[in-house]
Amino acid sequence: MRRPIIAGNWKMNKTVSEAVDFVRQLKVLVADVRDIDIVVAPTFTALRAISREIEGSNIELAGQDVFWESRGAYTGEISPSMLKDVGCRYVIIGHSERRQYFGETNELVQKKIKASLAMGLHPIVCVGEALEEREAGKTFDVVKIQVIQCLEGFSREEMEKITIAYEPIWAIGTGKTATPQQAEEVHAFIREQMGYITNRQISEGVRIQYGGSVNPDNISDLMVHPNIDGALVGGASLKADSFSSVVKFKRM
Ligand code: PGA
Repeated sequence: MRRPIIAGNWKMNKTVSEAVDFVRQLKVLVADVRDIDIVVAPTFTALRAISREIEGSNIELAGQDVFWESRGAYTGEISPSMLKDVGCRYVIIGHSERRQYFGETNELVQKKIKASLAMGLHPIVCVGEALEEREAGKTFDVVKIQVIQCLEGFSREEMEKITIAYEPIWAIGTGKTATPQQAEEVHAFIREQMGYITNRQISEGVRIQYGGSVNPDNISDLMVHPNIDGALVGGASLKADSFSSVVKFKRM
């Protein structure tokens, strides 16, 4: 059985004090949740404060991005060891906004995954097609290339630390969610591809989150599906009540 994982990606939102206020509320709201991994991904500037705030709670910390070198003259970058040092367990890698606005390629994503795994971080690796690609019937081709180029070549132990987030770009921040069936279809396909690049047993253990306009109203319908193991939540993760409602979704 794969343990569900629900992560809030705050993107470039919240000052440190806003982040601390948020997490104080969230801690109380989700204190009774035992069977789900709950993750928040604040901005780099808020990581330290949030790390202190969630100590001893059931909430875990993620970076929103990372660089592949461990130190040196890379102005503006943050290394895996720095994320680890500040208390991160997870790191989001290859988010479509990074790919779209900062030129991140599958090759760079793979380098970031490697460096993060070497530091013991658990990567959340994002894949997903653009609207034109879906409309041109290329969803599976695009996702297959992303899965292979980002994830091929890792050992069993490494694969066990990786979570994949399927985020169709057309559904991110648009209010347009993929239907649960559309999501399940791609998740099943990703798992099948993972089976080819590793083996069936390993791919059965890999968690695949859905991301793209997830909210308290659609999470239950998504989570019903056998290959949907959680969610990566943007907009709805910014308020404690909506994020906690996503985390405490009704099981059907
Ligand atoms: P959204 O963002 O929930 O606001 O669509 C999801 C994401 O980008 O991870």
